[in-house]
Amino acid sequence: MLDILVLYYSQHGATRELARLIARGVDSVPGCQARLRTVPKVSAVCEATEAAVPDAGAPYVEKQDLLDCAGLALGSPTRFGNMASAMKYFLDGTSGEWMQGALAGKPACVFTSSASLHGGQESTLLTMMIPLLHHGMVICGLPYSEAALLATQTGGTPYGVSHVAGAQNNRPISEDERALALAQGKRLAELAVKLAR
Ligand SMILES: Cc1cc2nc3c(=O)[nH]c(=O)nc-3n(C[C@H](O)[C@H](O)[C@H](O)COP(=O)(O)O)c2cc1C
Repeated sequence: MLDILVLYYSQHGATRELARLIARGVDSVPGCQARLRTVPKVSAVCEATEAAVPDAGAPYVEKQDLLDCAGLALGSPTRFGNMASAMKYFLDGTSGEWMQGALAGKPACVFTSSASLHGGQESTLLTMMIPLLHHGMVICGLPYSEAALLATQTGGTPYGVSHVAGAQNNRPISEDERALALAQGKRLAELAVKLAR
């Protein structure tokens, strides 16, 4: 079995919902299984630490997950048009894996959730790709052959799936966002199978 790491940060749950759909897309590909993981919050109080195990949701990621995975889906809420600091903090701690080339040649995709339609999803997705390119990963987007990409009135971009959560962060995942999340997970897993041959 090839493990595909679906690694996300989510404060209020919207990005987590996308992560779960991407994981379902991964699991739909024979020979692949999704490994859902999250990262802890970064505290503004430098001596505060999170519990070793999160109260709910996916377990915290370990460096071993990066070594084990055959592909990576990386998700973060949009924060001022960029990824959340918790995800950046985790990535900034991966210099050992970077030097080892632990992720080099493996496929990766990115996903995000934002409050507003034009609130910086694309800049978040594009800038999330940069550390993954430094790691030598093969970036996988979404092609317009996915019908939902042209039809969507909510989230969904060729750079990766997205969700428009609204000002109260309570809009449900739309049918198009759902279709694109499933397609993105499936596509990533299929690429991992091809690259692992
Ligand atoms: C500090 C901060 C910055 C944010 N910046 C943006 C932004 O630039 N554009 C936007 O549309 N939404 C922005 N949001 C809203 C979140 O992206 C949105 O609520 C997202 O769906 C949260 O995802 P989550 O439920 O996975 O935590 C921001 C939220 C916070 C707390």
